[in-house]
Amino acid sequence: MRIAILGTGGVGRALASQFVEHGHEVVLGTRDVAATLSRTTSASSHLPCFADWYAENPLVDLASLPDAASSAPLVVNALEGSHALEGLAEVGAARLAGKILIDTANPLDFSRGRPPFRYLDAHDSLAEQIQRSFPAARVVKTFSTMTTEQMVNPMSVPGLFTVFLSGDDPEAKRVVADLISELGHWDLLDLGDVTTARAPELLLPVWIQLRAALGTSDFNFRVVR
Ligand SMILES: NC(=O)c1ccc[n+]([C@@H]2O[C@H](COP(=O)([O-])OP(=O)(O)OC[C@H]3O[C@@H](n4cnc5c(N)ncnc54)[C@H](OP(=O)(O)O)[C@@H]3O)[C@@H](O)[C@H]2O)c1
Repeated sequence: MRIAILGTGGVGRALASQFVEHGHEVVLGTRDVAATLSRTTSASSHLPCFADWYAENPLVDLASLPDAASSAPLVVNALEGSHALEGLAEVGAARLAGKILIDTANPLDFSRGRPPFRYLDAHDSLAEQIQRSFPAARVVKTFSTMTTEQMVNPMSVPGLFTVFLSGDDPEAKRVVADLISELGHWDLLDLGDVTTARAPELLLPVWIQLRAALGTSDFNFRVVR
C-alpha cells in the first residue's frame, strides 16, 4: 500500500522506515521540502538532521504536505499536535476525502517548555477536532500512547502493551489494525467511535507523570482483562 506520513519528526521517520521494511511505499510530507532538506539540526537532539536520515532511507519519498497526501489512500498525521489542524488545512479537505487518516498526534503545547501541557479540556480530543474539520476523512486514532520505538518495535519493552484504536469507520479501523499487526502488535483494543479518542489522549498527562517518576520512557500501558 502507498502510505503518506505527514511530519518528518521521530514518529514520521520511525513509521516510514518500518512501513518500507514491510513492503509499503512511503512518502513523507513536510511544509517546505527545501527547508527540511537543508536543516542541519532536528527538533529532538537524539535525531539526526533530516537530510542524513533521508540519505539512509532511499526508498522513502519526500514531498509537500498536499502532494504527499494526494498520492496515497492512507495518510498518517504525525504532525506536532498543536499545529496538526494547520498542517492538515494545508493539505485541504478535498485531498483527504474518503481516505483513512491515522492520527498519532497528542494535543500538547510545548510553548512554555517541558513538560508540555494538554491544551484541550476533557470533553474534546484532537481526533474529534480533525474529524469535525475533515468530515469526509476516515479518522482512526492510534499509537498516541507510546514511544516511537514502541510503535515500530513492540518488543522494545518487556511484556505486552495495549494499542488503542478509536474511529467512526469500522472498515478504516480494520485496515489500520491489519497495518499495525504487521509491525508485530497483537493486543489491539477498539475503544469505539472517534469520541473515545478522549481516553487515550487523556492518558498523556499520566504518561508524562510516569515518565518523570520512572526516569525513562521505556514503559507502556496494558489493559489486563
Ligand atoms: N515522539 C514520540 O515519542 C511520540 C509518541 C506518540 C505520539 N507522538 C505524537 O506524534 C506527533 C509527532 O511527534 P514527533 O515527535 O514525530 O514530531 P514533532 O516534533 O511533534 O513534529 C512533527 C512535525 O510537525 C510539524 N510541525 C512543527 N511545527 C509546525 C507548524 N507550526 N505547522 C505545521 N507543522 C508543524 C513539522 O513538520 P515539518 O516537516 O514541516 O517541519 C514536524 O516534522 C506529535 O503530535 C506527538 O504528540 C509522539
